[in-house]
Amino acid sequence: MHRSGLVTAVFLFWACSLFASDIDGHWRLMRHTDDGNTLETFLDLKQHGSRLTGMLLVDWGDLPISDGSIEDNRISFTVPIDPSYAFRFSGEISGSEMRLIQYDPNVGTFPVSAIHMAANEPLSPARLPLPELHAVKDNGLARTPPMGWNSWNFFHDKIDDVTVRQIADTIVATGMRDAGYVYLNIDDTWQGSRDASGRIRPNKKFPDMKSLADYVHSKGLKLGIYSSPGPKTCAGYQGSYGHEEEDAKTFAEWGIDYLKYDWCSAFRVYKDSEMRAVYQKMGDALIHTDRPIVYSLCQYGKEDVWKWGKLVDGNLWRTTGDIRDNASSMFANAESEVDLAPWADVGQWNDPDMLEIGNGGMSADEYRTHMTFWSILAAPLIAGNDLRHMTPETRDILTNPAVIAIDQDPLGKQGHRISKQGEVEIWMRPLAGGAVAIAILNLGTGDASITTRWKDVGIPAVQRVRDLWARRDLPRDSASYSATVKAHGAVLIRLQRQQ
Ligand code: GLA
Repeated sequence: MHRSGLVTAVFLFWACSLFASDIDGHWRLMRHTDDGNTLETFLDLKQHGSRLTGMLLVDWGDLPISDGSIEDNRISFTVPIDPSYAFRFSGEISGSEMRLIQYDPNVGTFPVSAIHMAANEPLSPARLPLPELHAVKDNGLARTPPMGWNSWNFFHDKIDDVTVRQIADTIVATGMRDAGYVYLNIDDTWQGSRDASGRIRPNKKFPDMKSLADYVHSKGLKLGIYSSPGPKTCAGYQGSYGHEEEDAKTFAEWGIDYLKYDWCSAFRVYKDSEMRAVYQKMGDALIHTDRPIVYSLCQYGKEDVWKWGKLVDGNLWRTTGDIRDNASSMFANAESEVDLAPWADVGQWNDPDMLEIGNGGMSADEYRTHMTFWSILAAPLIAGNDLRHMTPETRDILTNPAVIAIDQDPLGKQGHRISKQGEVEIWMRPLAGGAVAIAILNLGTGDASITTRWKDVGIPAVQRVRDLWARRDLPRDSASYSATVKAHGAVLIRLQRQQ
C-alpha cells in the first residue's frame, strides 16, 4: 500500500473506533415483577456523541425515544406515548449491561436491566400458519351491548384475586349488578408461565382461577379474562400465540364467560392484513369449547374491523386506541364512530373502549356526557373505576336506569350524528317501538344555550318527551326543547313519536 493510503486507513480505523459505539444495536430490557414474571422488551439504540436516538420496541409498537443522552456511563431518555403520557428511563451502562430506572405513569417507578444482544438474535418467534377464512355460526351472545366492569383503567397491573372478589361483592351491594353490570373482566397481568405441557398458569396474584370464577358465579355475575394472539400481551405477559386451542379450553374449564383478545405483539409476527384470520383462529377455538364465551376484539379499529368482526364470531370490537381519563380523549373515541352506525346490530357492537366514569380526571358533567355518548352509540358499558370507593354521584351516573335502557335498547341500532354546529352536536338513536333517543352535546368549553326543534330532527309530532338526566317529563305539546347545556355537558332525551 502506498504510504499516504496506509496513513488514511489508520486514520479511518482510529476515527471509527472513536465514533462507533458499544451502545449501538438491540438491547433486551428486563423487568422482574412482584407477581413472579420477567417481562422483556427491546431497545434499538444509536449513539451520536453524547446524544442517543433509537426506539423502544414494546409489545404494542416501536416507540421513538426523545431527549436521549449519554454522559460517561450515565444514560437517560424519554419515550413519549401521547400528549399526556410518557415513559422515562435513566441509569448506567457498564460494558454490555445497563441498569435503569423506568417511570411508567400507569405503574410507577421500577428497576429494569438490559443486555446487549447479538446482531442476529431474533426479536420474535417464527410465524405459524393461519386458517383459511370460512363462514362461522353466530355464537348467539351479547344480544345487547355487554355491561360489566374491567380492571385495566383503574388498577392496571395492581389487580388480584382478592380485589376481584371485593369488586364482585361491591357490584352487588351498590345495585350495579341489578342495573345490568354483570361481567367482571380481569384485564392484562393475570398470566404466569406455561407448564411443561404448554398449559397457561395464572401468576401468584390469582392462585386459583376456577375458584375465583365459582365465587363470581355464586354472586350472579360472570367472569371475563384477557389474552393476545401474539406471543406477549401489551403489558408483556404470556399471550396465546401457538396455544389458541388449549388456552380457549383452559378458559372454558376455569368457567370464563368473556374473552378480550388484544392484538399487541401479534404485529411482530403477522401482517395487519392477516388480522381477520388471526382473530378467526381464536373465534373457532372458543366455539369448540362449547361454553358461551363473549368474544371481544381489541385491535384498536385497524383494518376496518367493523366490516369483519362478526365474521370471526366477534361480539364487540374496539374502534380506537386506548381511552384516557380526560374529555378530549373521551370525545375523540366517541367521534371515531360517527360513520359506524351501520355496522352495529344485535350481537355485534362497536366499542369505543371502557368507561372512565369515577376515575377522577373529568367533572361530573363530563362523565354524564361520557355515559350519554356511549348509550347513544350502543356501546358496551364496561365500568373502569374502583367500585369499592365510588361516590354516590358516580354510582348515580353509572346506574341511571333510563340512560341504561337507551344503551340496552333491544332494537340494537347504533345512533348517528344528525347535526354539528360549532361545538354543539345532536345525535339520534332509533329505539324499539318507534321511540328515539336524542343527545344534545356541548363539546365546547363554555355553556351554550341550545334550542332543538323536534321537526328539525325529523319528528313532526311527539307523544312523550323525557329528559333522562333531569329525570322529568317535558310538556307533551312541546315542539322544541331549550336548555343551557353546560361546558362539556349533555342532555339526553327519550322521545315517543305520535303514531
Ligand atoms: C391495550 C388495551 C387496553 C388494555 C391494555 C393492557 O392497551 O387497549 O385496553 O387491555 O392493553 O395491557
